[in-house]
Amino acid sequence: MSNPPSPPAVGVLDQGAALTFPPGFLWGAATAAYQIEGAATEGGRTPSIWDTFSHTEGRTMAGHTGDVACDHYHRMPDDVRLMADLGLKSYRFSVSWPRVQPGGTRAVNQEGMDFYRRLVDELLGHGIEPWLTLYHWDLPQPLEDAGGWPARDTAARFADYAQLVADSLGDRVKYFTTLNEPWCSAFLGYGSGVHAPGRSDGADAVRAGHHLMLGHGLAVQALRAARPEAQLGITVNLYPVTPATDSPEDADAARRIDGLANRFFLDPVLRGAYPADLTADLRKVTDFGHVRDGDLAVISTPLDLVGVNYYSRHVVAAPIEGVEREAYWRAPSCWPGSEDVRFVTRGVPVTDMDWEIDAPGLVETLERVHRDYTDLPLYVTENGSAFVDAVVDGRVDDPDRLAYFDAHLRAAHAAISAGVPLKGYFAWSLMDNFEWAWGYTKRFGMVYVDYDSQVRVPKSSAGWYADVIRRNGLAAQ
Ligand code: FCB
Repeated sequence: MSNPPSPPAVGVLDQGAALTFPPGFLWGAATAAYQIEGAATEGGRTPSIWDTFSHTEGRTMAGHTGDVACDHYHRMPDDVRLMADLGLKSYRFSVSWPRVQPGGTRAVNQEGMDFYRRLVDELLGHGIEPWLTLYHWDLPQPLEDAGGWPARDTAARFADYAQLVADSLGDRVKYFTTLNEPWCSAFLGYGSGVHAPGRSDGADAVRAGHHLMLGHGLAVQALRAARPEAQLGITVNLYPVTPATDSPEDADAARRIDGLANRFFLDPVLRGAYPADLTADLRKVTDFGHVRDGDLAVISTPLDLVGVNYYSRHVVAAPIEGVEREAYWRAPSCWPGSEDVRFVTRGVPVTDMDWEIDAPGLVETLERVHRDYTDLPLYVTENGSAFVDAVVDGRVDDPDRLAYFDAHLRAAHAAISAGVPLKGYFAWSLMDNFEWAWGYTKRFGMVYVDYDSQVRVPKSSAGWYADVIRRNGLAAQ
């Protein structure tokens, strides 16, 4: 890899200037089915791996589950009105696989599909472009019981499901992304096990990553055949990976982590090959015997767009000689074969997730994808921050979240000015929701959710974002 240059100074992000975005820029907000819908056992929905995982003791913070979440399943029309009040041009949501195809193999469950038909109609009725993600981590439990993503057949099941969604919703949805963040599904789900299904085996994680991408390619082919006019893509979560020092050892640590975090997905999907250094790094973990002839051609089926989720940067260093690696490695690890690489904190401001705030990293990331991989239109399909919020006199002021959005939108604008074909931006998230293993303890929303009453309170960042959308840009500061 070419190691990313050092982060540009914050000043290059034009702080202080008024910035206008290109006409038609797609301003949106994102959510995901399991994080907001609730109604876990209603309308014919069957369990996903996240139902099982969250109901298993010790897996999520305080045992929180998505059983009720934001009760969006019952409050959808009100939530769409909220989006309309914000002036959103687009809304990125995910379809719950076990809601529309119980068990992951059966016929379509019309009652479940009707929920999404109503959602899409409601959005279109308000002039909001629906942006549909097929898989935001909720694998039907029977498919996990049959082997999950490490099993090749799951990719074929995913393509069948994609076909069924295209047949049911393809007449009214233009934008489809297949997977959300396959790195998390593979390496957190089957590597470290901190996400569902909670398994910990490096080889399984690598196999899962491959079969997720195979499923993606097969799904793109099914969608393309069913809806030739649709705009098809994938969402990957990318991180600039910076060595802690300029030592060759730290550079190598950065190369390794960049391989696993970014190039594991970017190279097969956009270049049709696994990087040689990555397969070498993983040699002790797997021989890649699960990769069959023709897989990479399927995986690299042409797309119309690429979605990038961006939150933070990784700064890494080589293992320390002579220090027992157990002293610092996080086993079981989401970095198979590179478990002993050290993740370094720089002491810069962090969010409530402890993720470093690094807006220049967004410019670097977008420029890299454009420069090294593709001319396709790019979209930031998620970007946002958790901070502790409080309702005071009926209001929620969230200056830190607002500043995070502002800095990252300035970064997005800088990327556009540098020639990146960035066509849209989706804030994560429309509203507070079930933050996976963290349950309801982390709030990412522009809209505050009181989980007892289900009352929604737009935070000050929401009002600010509505202004940004109205003026198609950022005001001078
Ligand atoms: C991303 C996920 C999204 C949300 C944010 C904070 O990794 O795609 O569901 O949890 O992080």
